[in-house]
Amino acid sequence: MKKHNFSAGPSILSEYTIKNAAAAVENFAGTGLSILEVSHRSKEFVAVNDEARALIKELLDVPAGYEVVFLGGGASMQFCMVPFNLLNKKASYLDTGTWASNAIKEAKLFGEVDVVASSKEANYTYIPKGYTVAEDSDYFHFTSNNTIYGTEMRYDPDLNVRLVSDMSSDIFSRPIDISKYDVIYAGAQKNLAPAGVTLAIVRTEALGHVDRAIPTMLNYNTHIKKDSMFNTPPVFPIFAALQTLKWYKELGGVAVIEKMNLEKAAILYDEIDRNRLFKGTAAVEDRSIMNVCFVMNDEYKELEDEFNKFASAAGMVGIKGHRSVGGFRASLYNAMPKSSVEALVATMKEFEKLH
Ligand SMILES: Cc1ncc(COP(=O)(O)O)c(C=O)c1O
Repeated sequence: MKKHNFSAGPSILSEYTIKNAAAAVENFAGTGLSILEVSHRSKEFVAVNDEARALIKELLDVPAGYEVVFLGGGASMQFCMVPFNLLNKKASYLDTGTWASNAIKEAKLFGEVDVVASSKEANYTYIPKGYTVAEDSDYFHFTSNNTIYGTEMRYDPDLNVRLVSDMSSDIFSRPIDISKYDVIYAGAQKNLAPAGVTLAIVRTEALGHVDRAIPTMLNYNTHIKKDSMFNTPPVFPIFAALQTLKWYKELGGVAVIEKMNLEKAAILYDEIDRNRLFKGTAAVEDRSIMNVCFVMNDEYKELEDEFNKFASAAGMVGIKGHRSVGGFRASLYNAMPKSSVEALVATMKEFEKLH
């Protein structure tokens, strides 16, 4: 039976990525070696690493003055790497969920942290607005897409301080005005590659202003100066990332991808709003186009387990909500075909008929 992979991460990858990755496991770039065993210093892999970083710059229209690096440690490592490199005295953070609050916790190890606003009291179902960011902050950090709660800031804030964003779950889902940012980071395992590599886009001018010593591996400059090859990088995830990036280019780039994403999300949200059994959990104006969170309507609460079983029997994978919120979450990352979203909607309609 056809499986529809709605997992939140690691998550669906394009067929193009998976086919080319599988072929390279057998024979990488005509070397007669597997991508799993090839030297990261081989000219064939250096070319992959360079092309992937160049394609990221091209697809996201990264201006001069920025560098793109592939790092280890997941997005969670960036929670400490950002303040290590950028926080001198005080930083401002927006608390929009578990990942944002994990980032806040790490930043507190390095200096004063001003949490400008939080939606914790409402279980992070909305994005706080109308907050002010102190102009003497070293930077303002926000999570552009809250994977667990299905809320998203689909815009690039205008502020007078340096801007840092965790874009782990919505990078490449829309065009971004990179020039507004100083650091953007993203774990690869949603819109890019299998788990194991983290992408960082860094404005080089933002570095070098902190007084502390920075451990070599946690210093962005270490990786920038060595073209993202200071130590052994995660070779296979980077190869897979390049395939995804080539596929994005073939599709027509991130503006085209955004249109597709908006259409897919609208199909599912329309059904959630129409179907009497379900309701959305995120504030309508803050709804994510990547992670669609919903629950059974109050009078049908007891049907939650039954719908989970019904949907998995129909081939839906990974729609159970995060353990901290319950209900359902359908992740509609870039590689998710519209036909899978339509299959989920058809399953919801069928379930409604039974009740
Ligand atoms: C928005 C966001 N930030 C950070 C993380 C943590 O990423 P990692 O597991 O790569 O450390 C996740 C994981 O799902 C996430 O969704």
